[in-house]
Amino acid sequence: MSAQYDQIGDKTENWDVLPVRSGYMEGHTIFKVLGSVKGKSVLDLACGDGLYTRQFKERGATRVVGVDISEEMIRIAQQNEEAQPLGLEYHVSDVASMPSLGSFDLVTAVYLLHYASSPEHMLRMCRSIHAHLKPGGSFVTYAFNPDFSAKGPNSTRYGITMLAFPEAPRDGQAISAELHTKNPFTIHFSYWSRSTHEQALRAAGFHTITWQRPECSPEGLAKYGQAFWQDYIDNPHAVALRCEK
Ligand SMILES: C[S@@+](CC[C@H](N)C(=O)[O-])C[C@H]1O[C@@H](n2cnc3c(N)ncnc32)[C@H](O)[C@@H]1O
Repeated sequence: MSAQYDQIGDKTENWDVLPVRSGYMEGHTIFKVLGSVKGKSVLDLACGDGLYTRQFKERGATRVVGVDISEEMIRIAQQNEEAQPLGLEYHVSDVASMPSLGSFDLVTAVYLLHYASSPEHMLRMCRSIHAHLKPGGSFVTYAFNPDFSAKGPNSTRYGITMLAFPEAPRDGQAISAELHTKNPFTIHFSYWSRSTHEQALRAAGFHTITWQRPECSPEGLAKYGQAFWQDYIDNPHAVALRCEK
């Protein structure tokens, strides 16, 4: 499962324009939960092509480092860096077994924990994240929503649909989703309950774990209207999570 993005590669191009991935919903929620990054060092895990890694630097972060398990995604991230240099540093690694990259004010991970292959793998990821934070630092992540409901809305109009989502998902159950980009592709990951996430985070040393449902920005509401977003707001595929060291 881990290197699936080596095959997906540039099919992810422009996926940030999908309504669900846009700054109106996902970006708005992540930056609201994260707060200002100005003057802070940021380690961006599961950075993919550097979508958020670049934004952290553009918003005034100091040292910004991206890590991804996929060589192909890091190749694309580095290509983006060469095209428009921001001084970003990228590494290929599984978060669970990262070498030490330093000590950061913030660790971010937009879509990581549901790629854990077992609770033990998630725990190793969380321990590694904790070890890369300065005392008092924060981990902000965006993960598959453990409360996503098979009975709730699951509309293609947002740019992502869950495929054959089970009515009562079990921990570790395989989940697939389709991304409706120009060259659509399917991703595969595992279902993990809230308590599995929280157990791993607490065992790694985090406290004050706060879940936050996605919110639409005023610009997104003005552009598409409340009615467009309502189904997604009622049954979002992802949620944000903030944890303190
Ligand atoms: C949905 S993409 C998100 C990329 C980027 N954060 C974004 O929001 O555009 C998930 C990424 O997680 C990476 N990934 C999955 N498991 C990982 C692991 N164990 N360690 C590091 N990266 C991982 C994948 O290679 C992929 O690039």
